[in-house]
Amino acid sequence: MKSRNMTAIGLAAVVASAVLLSAASGPGAAPRQTRSAAGPELDRKVQAFLDANARGWRDMNVPEADGRILYDLVLENKYTRALEIGTSTGHSGIWIAWALSKTGGRLVTVEIDGGRYREAVANFREAGLDPWIDARLADAHELVPALAGPFDFVFCDADKDWYKNYFVAVLPKLTVGGAFVAHNVSRRMRRGGWGSGDFVEHVLSLPFMETTFREDSWSGISVSVKRADK
Ligand SMILES: C[S@@+](CC[C@H](N)C(=O)[O-])C[C@H]1O[C@@H](n2cnc3c(N)ncnc32)[C@H](O)[C@@H]1O
Repeated sequence: MKSRNMTAIGLAAVVASAVLLSAASGPGAAPRQTRSAAGPELDRKVQAFLDANARGWRDMNVPEADGRILYDLVLENKYTRALEIGTSTGHSGIWIAWALSKTGGRLVTVEIDGGRYREAVANFREAGLDPWIDARLADAHELVPALAGPFDFVFCDADKDWYKNYFVAVLPKLTVGGAFVAHNVSRRMRRGGWGSGDFVEHVLSLPFMETTFREDSWSGISVSVKRADK
C-alpha cells in the first residue's frame, strides 16, 4: 500500500513537472535554467566576457557607452520584464540581461537572422547570462504583436522603418512607468532618412508618453516613459 502511494506521488510529481515545463515553452515563457549564479561571481564572468570582446562587435551592435546606458536604465528603474527587438549577436542583450540579473528580471530578445541568432545564444551562454534570456529566432513583425507581455522595458533596435509599428504593437503591453527605448534616433540619423523619424514624430504626439533623448549617445537613444494608459 505504502509503495503504491509512493508510486502515485511519484507519478503526480512527473505529471506536474511536465505541465510546468510545457507551460514554460510558449511566447513570453520564463527561461528554464536556474538563476543561481547572480552575484559577484556572475559580475566577474560578465565583465571578463565584455573585456575580452570589447573590440570584436561587428554586427551593427551598440557601442559600449550605449550598452551602459541600457544597463543603468534597467537597474535604476528596477525593470524586470524586458523585450529587445533586434538581438544581432547580443551585445546590447548582454548589458540589459546583466542588469536584469540584479533586478530579478528576464529578457525576451528577437532576431531574424539565423547566423547572428546562433552567435548571440553562444555569447549569452559564454557570458553566463543565458538563464536570464529567452532568445527567439523569429520575424519581429510577427512575433512582437503575438507576445503576451506585459513589459516594463522595451529596447527597439531592428529595422528602423518599422519602429512605429513595433511601438504601436507594444504600447498596450507596456506597463505604466515602463519605458520604450529606441536606438538610432539622433536628429542626424532621422534627417539622413534612417526611417525612425515617423516613430519619433508619433511618440512625441502622445501626451501620456514622456520622451527624452540621451545626448550622451552618438547614435541617439530615445527613452519614452508611459505615464498613463492614455
Ligand atoms: C542594429 S542590429 C541590433 C544590434 C543589437 N541590438 C546589439 O546591440 O547587439 C539590428 C538587428 O535587427 C535584426 N532585424 C531586422 N529586421 C528584423 C525583423 N523583422 N525581425 C527580427 N530581427 C530583425 C537584424 O537582423 C539585425 O541583426
